Amino acid sequence: MTPAEPLIALSGVTKRYGRGANAFDALKGIDLDIAAGDFVAVMGPSGSGKSTMMNILGCLDVPSGGTFRFRGVPVEGLDADERSLLRRRYLGFVFQGFNLLARTSALENVELPLVYRGEPRKRRRELGMDALERVGLAPWATHTPAELSGGQQQRVAIARAIVTHPDVLLADEPTGNLDSQRSIEIMELLTDLNRSSGITVLMVTHEPDMAGFAHTIVHFKDGLVDRIERGAGAGAPA
Ligand SMILES: Nc1ncnc2c1ncn2[C@@H]1O[C@H](COP(=O)(O)OP(=O)(O)O)[C@@H](O)[C@H]1O
Ligand SMILES: [Mg+2]
Repeated sequence: MTPAEPLIALSGVTKRYGRGANAFDALKGIDLDIAAGDFVAVMGPSGSGKSTMMNILGCLDVPSGGTFRFRGVPVEGLDADERSLLRRRYLGFVFQGFNLLARTSALENVELPLVYRGEPRKRRRELGMDALERVGLAPWATHTPAELSGGQQQRVAIARAIVTHPDVLLADEPTGNLDSQRSIEIMELLTDLNRSSGITVLMVTHEPDMAGFAHTIVHFKDGLVDRIERGAGAGAPA
């Protein structure tokens, strides 16, 4: 990746679901560059293609057309194994519904990506506790999700997403299930991870208050980028 190269570059990215008479174009040609270190909010009406783009960025899905470069590498040129390596090495995910394993402690949930990576148990414990510390939940390490509030569960999910020290944190409506106070706490945590750890954050949100924490706001409409506000939001550097 040359210094001028954006971390993420989408060019003419399309996504068609179904075929023939049932075909639906969820993305109609997305052009979007994201610089390393940015904090981006993606907004737009339901059905405008936000999650479809996030899934492509997260290598959970592949575009129908166009180019997705990550660190300068065209992702469509990678096979499924290489894409999953890219995902495990560089990306972390947070979802609206937390997606934690129910009968499993916070620490074990956070350690999961390290299990997949084959880290020894002792190292997993250390890194897992570091990540829980980072989100302010070290004292809750042995608790199961049912013993934690929604806000705390989302913090565990964020710890799980950052335990591998990803370059990018992808969060699809991370505060969608939380009240406004808990939502603000999650935004403050994402802001802190962005600022002090330099993690590039991409977050989908419906709420202008939450988008206000981002530096860049990308507005989606009908499968296209409608407009981009740069240097926006309360989180923008002074
Ligand atoms: N797997 C799928 N098969 C068919 N259509 C889909 C699929 N996933 C999403 N869509 C459609 O694509 C459009 C965009 O969906 P999505 O990216 O989830 O929008 P958003 O996250 O902005 O609400 C919607 O009309 C949705 O119904
Ligand atoms: Mg969505």
